[in-house]
Amino acid sequence: MYYPDNLVEEVRARNDIVDVISSYVRLQKKGSNHVGLCPFHNEKTASFSVSRSKQMYKCFGCGKSGNVITFVMEYENYTFQEALKLLAERAGVTLPEIKYTKEARERDNLKARILEAYKEAGKYYYFQLRSEAGKRAYEYFKDRGLSDDTMNKFGLGYAVTGRNLMYRYLKSKGYDDSVLKEMHIFYMNEREGMTDMFWNRAIFPIMDVNHRVIAFGGRVMGQGEPKYLNSPETMVFDKGRNLYGLNHARTSRKDNIIVCEGYMDVIALHQAGFDQAVGALGTALTSGHVNLLKRYTSNVLLCYDNDGAGTKANLRAIPILRGAGVSTKVINLSPYKDPDEFIKNLGSEELEIRLKNAENSFYYEIRILEGDYDLNDPDGRTRFTNEVARKLLKFEDAIERDNYLEAICTKYRINIESMRKLMGKLAAKGEGIPEYERPRSLVSSAKKDSDSGIRKAQKLLLTWLCEEPELYGQVDKYLNEDDFDEDIIKTVAGILFDQIKQGTANPAGIISMFTNEEEQSEVGSLFSTKLEKLNTKAEKEKAFKDILIKVKEHSFEMQAKLGDPADINRINLALENKKTLNELKGLRIVISE
Ligand code: UTP
Ligand code: MN
Repeated sequence: MYYPDNLVEEVRARNDIVDVISSYVRLQKKGSNHVGLCPFHNEKTASFSVSRSKQMYKCFGCGKSGNVITFVMEYENYTFQEALKLLAERAGVTLPEIKYTKEARERDNLKARILEAYKEAGKYYYFQLRSEAGKRAYEYFKDRGLSDDTMNKFGLGYAVTGRNLMYRYLKSKGYDDSVLKEMHIFYMNEREGMTDMFWNRAIFPIMDVNHRVIAFGGRVMGQGEPKYLNSPETMVFDKGRNLYGLNHARTSRKDNIIVCEGYMDVIALHQAGFDQAVGALGTALTSGHVNLLKRYTSNVLLCYDNDGAGTKANLRAIPILRGAGVSTKVINLSPYKDPDEFIKNLGSEELEIRLKNAENSFYYEIRILEGDYDLNDPDGRTRFTNEVARKLLKFEDAIERDNYLEAICTKYRINIESMRKLMGKLAAKGEGIPEYERPRSLVSSAKKDSDSGIRKAQKLLLTWLCEEPELYGQVDKYLNEDDFDEDIIKTVAGILFDQIKQGTANPAGIISMFTNEEEQSEVGSLFSTKLEKLNTKAEKEKAFKDILIKVKEHSFEMQAKLGDPADINRINLALENKKTLNELKGLRIVISE
């Protein structure tokens, strides 16, 4: 971590979470919390709750939680450092120059300069399109049906014909060759020096989710090769981690994201009201793209071109999306080639219907597979059935697998029992390994999805102690961090207990001790488990004690598994533990009103 803990804590404490989140999300006061529509998933009823006393947020719909720093990281897609910087500026805290190595600082400076230069270049192209010299390009865009608003929304531009106009322009703005070289929008030429990459091309600036220009695509005016010229990857542009149009799509209120192929498709879709469209820009969808998409949606609609290349792109994308747990459907554009053409010919309402009728990605895969076999030929049918069995085995979830098994068998008139037997045989031979590993994180998603009873109890206990720290004094002699079995919970419990001993519980402060979003969210959830609504004091006291006993029993069980069963110390310990549990059962917890 770059900054000292106390500074991080100061920045966090000086940014009230309700104030900060209110500038992004409309919040309403409800009881002691503020609630609103969750910005991290699509919903119609407010399940996003912000607590001023805890300085934390939690969405009871999608499970995201954290403190003000986490929020900015998630919402702006910032790193920890970037989020901290934003919040420090907001609160007027001066961050010291980060103590990184000279190389790291130079790298950061260079990156910042490249981004500035890109912004400058984008403005130049933008201006040219709207000038006399850009008239032809402007007419071209008009001919393709784009309105002025759309051109502005996507910052479209034009590169006039000229050997090195852009180069000279940026030079005049004070950018050194060292920066310009790293932009990779100039060709190096022994004789002529630096020359511009884009001549007489319509320009599509590529932006990151924060609307920063990081690359350009340039289309020939009319016919010519290559049709689109794209600036290559640079220090600021990673193709596999950026999607065209996501800067707009991320704030769409639609509950899905449409993935299509090209610049014009994305733009045409947005203009027709499908403001949730993004483009992978002629490259195959990568797991980097999918992870990015996952931040904003769990429903993807594939809308690649209606041709061989598009089918291939679908078949490649589906397993990656499935592997990441994203529900995926395929839009049928027939008889048109791409969304742009479709909209021009049939209009947005018709496309809306195609969206609604998009085909489940598994059925799509099987339907395409079917084309490779002659199902009227017994041999073809057998091979097809084998292939289907293999695909079915890739579902990790048994219920899901079974549902698809039944549906597919019915559809293709395959005997369900024979299919089950076949799958059993293939599985025994080791088939059915998932095509793609799920993105790994410190916290496995299985645990997140369904908390086991004991884990839930541990979380409840921490949440409760965080909300009523005065209870800790009554149980501290029974409880310590080793009663929790996962590393992250253990660490958090240790810090929380220390804080309470020193007088205050500061859950939001604990969250920012972790710099990775995944962990922050996990830690956040430890403090924001939903406590059951209990009415009477006696009920509460009993519930608290039950949770404590459950955690403690589990802790003793874990202990008992260690060491040699015949060890006399272990036997003694077991007896001790039994005594402690009995004591706990008789313990009187007092909860004040
Ligand atoms: P398409 O040829 O389908 O582009 O390629 P398009 O968007 O429909 O183009 P228009 O409508 O003729 O203007 C899909 C995408 O593949 C990439 C571009 O990102 C394009 O948008 N591509 C295509 C290239 O990078 N270079 C090429 O030469 C062609
Ligand atoms: Mn196309």
